[in-house]
Amino acid sequence: MLITFEGIDGSGKTTQANRLKDYLESRGLKVHLFREPGGTGAGERIRDILLEYDLDPLTELFLFEASRVELLRVIREALSRGEVVVLDRFTDSTLAYQGYGRGLNLDLVKRLNSLATQGTEAEITFLLDLDPEIALRRAGRKSRFDDPEFLRKVREGYLEIARSCPHRVVVLDASLPEEEVFLKIKDRVDRKLNLS
Ligand code: TYD
Repeated sequence: MLITFEGIDGSGKTTQANRLKDYLESRGLKVHLFREPGGTGAGERIRDILLEYDLDPLTELFLFEASRVELLRVIREALSRGEVVVLDRFTDSTLAYQGYGRGLNLDLVKRLNSLATQGTEAEITFLLDLDPEIALRRAGRKSRFDDPEFLRKVREGYLEIARSCPHRVVVLDASLPEEEVFLKIKDRVDRKLNLS
């Protein structure tokens, strides 16, 4: 079972991903939580480059995908053992940020996403949807992308992805209290894993 969390910076993905991991572990499951970019030794170094330099969008695209290819080696092993993998960002981030946000060709991004994942797909994706102004205030720090206009494009991109994959993507109102958002996530995962 591969579960992914998506949303613009400051939407609360990381908090919810951690809560889900704790919950599933309390139910006796073996759970791995990774973040993208990163999650492996090489991936974390690629992450440092991505966060440190102001790169061409195409360079960014290649680096995000490179980090993903390395992480997928670990993910596939865990999935083959029947374990749960929770990801803080995955392929939808690339389509939303590099495609809809930076304006790279959407088909190119989709093709590189498939090349990187080789068919390993999320079974459920939680999209924590939030107004960019609120997200930026919440982040309480300068987000890597601190431009509300850019984040608006990314948000619209995410919503477009959700519309095209209604069976996989669950859109959640991230302006609701943390506990309420978590209960919706828990409910959905309980049903999917027959835990309730
Ligand atoms: P991070 O500090 O992890 O942000 P957050 O806590 O909001 O997830 O930095 C990851 C940044 O990389 C974030 O701004 C989103 C961006 N990103 C992309 O642009 N494309 C991608 O494919 C991925 C995985 C992340």
